[in-house]
Amino acid sequence: MSTIIDGKALAEKKRAAVADEARAFAQRYGRSPGLAVVLVGNDPASSIYVRNKKNDCALSGIASFDHTMDERITQSELLSLIQKLNADKTVDGILVQLPLPAHLNAQEVLLAISPDKDVDGFHPYNMGRLLTGEPTLVPCTPAGVMAMLHEYDVPIKGMDAVVVGRSNIVGKPMALLLMMEHATVTICHSRTRELERKIGQADIVVAAIGKAEMIKGHWIKPGAVVIDVGMNRTGQGLKGDVEYTEASARASLITPVPGGVGPMTRAMLLENTLAAAQRHVKQPITAPPS
Ligand code: GUN
Repeated sequence: MSTIIDGKALAEKKRAAVADEARAFAQRYGRSPGLAVVLVGNDPASSIYVRNKKNDCALSGIASFDHTMDERITQSELLSLIQKLNADKTVDGILVQLPLPAHLNAQEVLLAISPDKDVDGFHPYNMGRLLTGEPTLVPCTPAGVMAMLHEYDVPIKGMDAVVVGRSNIVGKPMALLLMMEHATVTICHSRTRELERKIGQADIVVAAIGKAEMIKGHWIKPGAVVIDVGMNRTGQGLKGDVEYTEASARASLITPVPGGVGPMTRAMLLENTLAAAQRHVKQPITAPPS
């Protein structure tokens, strides 16, 4: 039987630490760290995510600035808003909730965000820093996974890690972070052959494919650590990417869904916003490279 990694408790600990530092920041600099949250349209799932992020800010002494925009906003109007937020000295972080409606070019929008304020870590500059092993602002979900592995003293150096999923938001940065800590990393995806065999060899499995219970519990190597990034709404409720009950009979450590990775992603956004604010008071905010 495995130990359950309590992402909710760790996230709460991290949030409380951010709140302490945000209070000290406000006393010293006369303003709170600030996060601008941009939501286009009214997708129900995105609206819930954004509401949660704003609540987290309120609990942590971070000022959140709400920019909920009509779904018919044009690309140039959205880019103008980003430019305004880039120039606003009370804004340390800018988060544009994804996905954007189909008529908008998300890549161009992310590129317009000042890398200094890119608290999602999605800007190619910040992605490049991570790739070259000098990370600045790191995407929140993989950063949260690393924080959980550290908290539970999971050995990483020399371990075989399998990351299932190759997205820019999770899979790719996750693999880079594990590699930076000397894991041997295999990235698997929808076209990977012999997925079961590859997962069966892993000491650490990070599942981020977005398919409910696609990874079968009996594939897991006994004693492996299983991190489930999946959040899939099904007729039987919210499910991860891993068959939880069967996997937890084999894993040494496993994250639940919900209550595992999700709360950590939110906590890391607060940490990134605080870190961006602390940098902004020490150095002027730069324009994005053009
Ligand atoms: N949509 C799903 N996950 C994320 C995230 O981490 N950040 C943003 N901005 N949008 C998302």
